[in-house]
Parts: sequence; structure tokens; C-alpha cells
Amino acid sequence: MYTAWTLKHKPRTLKDVIGNKQAIQTLIEWVKAWNKAAPKKKAAFLYGPPGIGKTVTVEALAHDLDMELVEKNASDYRTEDAVKRFAGIASQYATLFGKKRLILFDELDGITGTQDRGGVKALTEIIKTTRCPIVLIANNAYDPRFTNLRRYCMLIQFKKPPVSEVVKLLKKICLREGIAAEEAALRFIAQRSGGDVRSAINDLQALAQGKTRLTYDDVSWLAYRDRQENIFTVLKMIFYARSCTSAKQAVDMAEVDPDMLFEWIYENAPQHLTHPQDLARAMDALSIADVYRGRIRKTGNWKFMRYFLDFMTAGVAMARQKSRPSGWTPFRFPKRIQELSRTKGKRRLELAIGTKIKRRFHMSAYRASKEVLPYIKIIFENNVEMAAGIARWLDLDKEMIEYIVSDEKAKAILEHMETL
Ligand SMILES: Nc1ncnc2c1ncn2[C@@H]1O[C@H](COP(=O)(O)OP(=O)(O)OP(=O)(O)O)[C@@H](O)[C@H]1O
Ligand SMILES: [Mg+2]
Repeated sequence: MYTAWTLKHKPRTLKDVIGNKQAIQTLIEWVKAWNKAAPKKKAAFLYGPPGIGKTVTVEALAHDLDMELVEKNASDYRTEDAVKRFAGIASQYATLFGKKRLILFDELDGITGTQDRGGVKALTEIIKTTRCPIVLIANNAYDPRFTNLRRYCMLIQFKKPPVSEVVKLLKKICLREGIAAEEAALRFIAQRSGGDVRSAINDLQALAQGKTRLTYDDVSWLAYRDRQENIFTVLKMIFYARSCTSAKQAVDMAEVDPDMLFEWIYENAPQHLTHPQDLARAMDALSIADVYRGRIRKTGNWKFMRYFLDFMTAGVAMARQKSRPSGWTPFRFPKRIQELSRTKGKRRLELAIGTKIKRRFHMSAYRASKEVLPYIKIIFENNVEMAAGIARWLDLDKEMIEYIVSDEKAKAILEHMETL
């Protein structure tokens, strides 16, 4: 059966809640104060970003202090009438069985302006007269809707727990799940979630469930996915920009360098500028951008950078005049980059062989690799003795010979060279 790890490993007691030690202590003391007399502020208002343990803290607190927790969500108290129904519960400090009561109104931002039909106001009234502690939770306590309500509350801010604490928690979960996890992998997950503990646990479950080991390699590809998502957003901003400014802003958002961004735009323009005239205009802009790039390279004058960037972003954006949005067309990884990296080793070797040939033939290394090398290949495949002679004459090394012919032939040629 599938159980979310956020539930399975949810802290039952305050000891297991990470971070926000000071805030939690303040909350405990305030709840305990009720044993003597109702404090001046009869509600505590916890606020902070999602997934950091606000709800779980109140639940664990009720557990630790052995209190009865009455938990309500926004959907329960949108209207004035709905809230008034809780007035009865709030009028007694203890239950029939002597347990003390704690009332929680969670996810207060769930009552949005239009949906709030007197809910917040009625809640304020209850707080004024309540005989048991009331806790409120929202992401943003400073929403104008809560201005009046806030006056009756003790505000307690919850912050994102530090990464090191999140790592420790993930470690504990791995231990319980029988997963040997590399520290670097857990650190990566924790950092990526940006302090949101819930999403860190969810990521961990998605990546590690059913495994006995979790390595850095298992998780690091997520960064690639993030970057990929980023470039898609950037390309969308450029191809579908409404103004030059927004197209140009995309550059600052891109996590790739300008050369790479150029390749992405060049590769994807035909799919997204479907009208031939638009595409022609975009290609014109790209070619001008490329001219400026050439000047930067040649002269080292970085002032041209502005033009390079503007033509490839705003220039391409403004090319769109007749193309309709192409529905959902996925962006493609630039082929030129793929090709270049795939053939990098090959090109390096061909050029190195070309350089050897150049010395004897007095031609450029590039031409040598294109025009002479193919013939050398034929000789090497057919005549071991001649091949050995040529290899010696050109001063080719083992790696080069193995590049020109199959391993078996290369072995024969190398052996023959020994005898020369
Ligand atoms: N500080 C924490 N310590 C331990 N576990 C945590 C912590 N924060 C979150 N979690 C885990 O994430 C889950 C969600 O936490 P919780 O519901 O308390 O978040 P929240 O702050 O109330 O978020 P939201 O604002 O979205 O309601 C918990 O069930 C728990 O598994
Ligand atoms: Mg919550």
C-alpha cells in the first residue's frame, strides 16, 4: 500500500519537530499559562512558508501536553454561521472528561476575500471571549484581511529550518526505511527544496522508495531537469514575448551562457515561428547577432555583447508577426551542440593526423584530414607493409593508427613497424 512518507514519518512529539525551537518554546509557555488564567492575548497566530511544520507543531504540542485538539480547516469556517458553531466548544476550558482543550483554526489564508462571508469577523468575536486557547495558522499573517484580528493575537513567526537539520531528518527517515544513503545525496535534496521540509520528504520518497542505496548520482540529474525547465521558460519568454523588454529580460533568467542560449534559439525557431516570413526575419536577426559575436571574438570588444544579446532575443521576438502559437511544441536540445560533443574525440584525432600529414604534404591540416586521410585509410586497410612504412614516415602513433583502421589491422601494422 502506498503511504506518503510525510504521514508515515510525521513527528508525534515536539522533540521530533526540527527547527523553530524559540517559536515553539514561546507557544508552549503561552499554552501552559492558561492553567493559571486566560492570558491577555487569547489566540496565538502562527505564520510562515508552507511545509515547515506549523500544523505538525500544534498537533505534537496537544499530544505532549495531553490536550484534546479540535482541528478546523478553512472549509469549516467560511461563513459567520459556521464559525459561530464553534462558540460552544470555545466556551469551556475542559472537556467532560477533564481533558484540556486546544482549538486550531488551520489554513486561514484558505478563506479568500470573496469567500469570506463574515468568517474572519466571527472568529475575532470568538477569540475575544474564548475560555480555551485558540491557535490560528496562515502563511501570511500580514494580509490586510487579518488587520483587526491580529490585534487579539500573539504573533509567532515560523521560519524555514536550516539545511543541516533537514539533512538529519532525511537521514533518520532513510534509516527507518532501510536505505543506505550518501550524505551528498541527502544534502542535495535538502538544498533543492529550499527549506520546505514536506517537499524534501516527498522528493526523497520519489527517489529512494524501494531502494536499498541512494547515491548522489541517483539524485543529481534533478539539477539537469531543473535547468532544462529553466531553459524552456526562457525560450517561451523569447519566442512569445509581447515586448522587446520582456524578451531581453529572458537573458538574465537563463542559466546557460549566451553562446548556448543562441544555439537553443537557433534550434527551436523553426518550430515556433511557423510563418516563413517570420522565420526569415528571425534568422536575419540571428545572423546579425552572429556577426556581432564574431566581432567580440576578433576584437575582444565586449561592448558588442549588448547587440549580440538584443538581436538574438528582441530581434527574434519581434520577428513574430503572422505565426500563430504552435500549440504545445516541445523545445529541442540544440543538435549542433549534441553533434559537436559526440564527435569531439573524432575531430581532435582527425586534426592531429592532419597535422602530421601537413608536415610532409605542405598543405593545411584541415585539408589534409579531408583530402589525404581517406586515401591513407584505403592503403592501411589493404597493404600492411606499405601502411607500416607510411605510418613511420608520417610519424603516426598507436592511437592514430587504431583510429584509421580496425584494431586487428592496426595490430598487424604496429607489429610490422617494429621490424622496420
Ligand atoms: N519541522 C518539521 N519537522 C519534521 N517534519 C516536518 C517539519 N515540517 C514539515 N514536516 C513534514 O512535512 C509534513 C507537512 O508539515 P506541516 O503540515 O506541519 O506543514 P505546514 O507548515 O503546516 O505547511 P502548510 O503551510 O502548507 O500547511 C509533516 O507531516 C511532516 O512529515
Ligand atoms: Mg499546515
